[in-house]
Amino acid sequence: MGSDLKISDKIQEYILNNGLSLHPVQKEIIEYNKSLGELKRMQIAISQSQFLHLLVKTLKIKKILEIGTFTGLSTLSMSLALAEDGTILALDKNEETTKTAIRFFKKAKQDHKINTMIKPALESLQEIRGKKFDLIFIDADKMNYKKYYEEAINLITTDGLIIIDNVLWHGEVVDENNNNKFTINIREFNDHVSRDKRVEKIIIPLGDGMTICRKL
Ligand SMILES: C[S@@+](CC[C@H](N)C(=O)[O-])C[C@H]1O[C@@H](n2cnc3c(N)ncnc32)[C@H](O)[C@@H]1O
Repeated sequence: MGSDLKISDKIQEYILNNGLSLHPVQKEIIEYNKSLGELKRMQIAISQSQFLHLLVKTLKIKKILEIGTFTGLSTLSMSLALAEDGTILALDKNEETTKTAIRFFKKAKQDHKINTMIKPALESLQEIRGKKFDLIFIDADKMNYKKYYEEAINLITTDGLIIIDNVLWHGEVVDENNNNKFTINIREFNDHVSRDKRVEKIIIPLGDGMTICRKL
């Protein structure tokens, strides 16, 4: 029976070196995030940025909603894959990091495709009710994941993708002795999605684990 390969740091490096080349501004964001110390862990993994890029390009996605922008790596990775008439609405409550992200979007000449909303995401989501997106990427505060997911279900088109980051929570989801509130919350969220008949889904072990849901 086939089994999944255990990914060592060396294999991870090999994967990155043999994957998509990064745009100079993607590289710049990654370098900038390194200068932020502990905060750099907020950014998606490079393998995830490559995956999102390829997905958007291959599926010819046109309308993207992102919940959790930070300094813009995931937003820019998807934007660079969008056609000229594609758009991203990027939500984040942090004004400072969003301003930094916008500087990077301008530098990469992608700002015409990207709109930002700076306020708590649940408020933004209320304001955009009735709109439709064909990809929604959820990567903000984990305790609100279920609420974001339920809003996303109403905003996504049939066949559209809802992608959720950090679903393996550093592997803690399978540690029965770990019962801190964040781990329990992610476990309950994963259980909710896994029982949801409105989507078909798969968890892929990229970065901190991503769930890909296709809306039926
Ligand atoms: C993990 S980071 C996003 C990383 C980003 N996708 C990237 O690739 O760099 C999470 C972001 O969610 C934002 N956030 C946290 N709570 C939020 C809330 N209630 N509403 C909106 N944004 C929130 C934080 O400000 C932070 O920028």
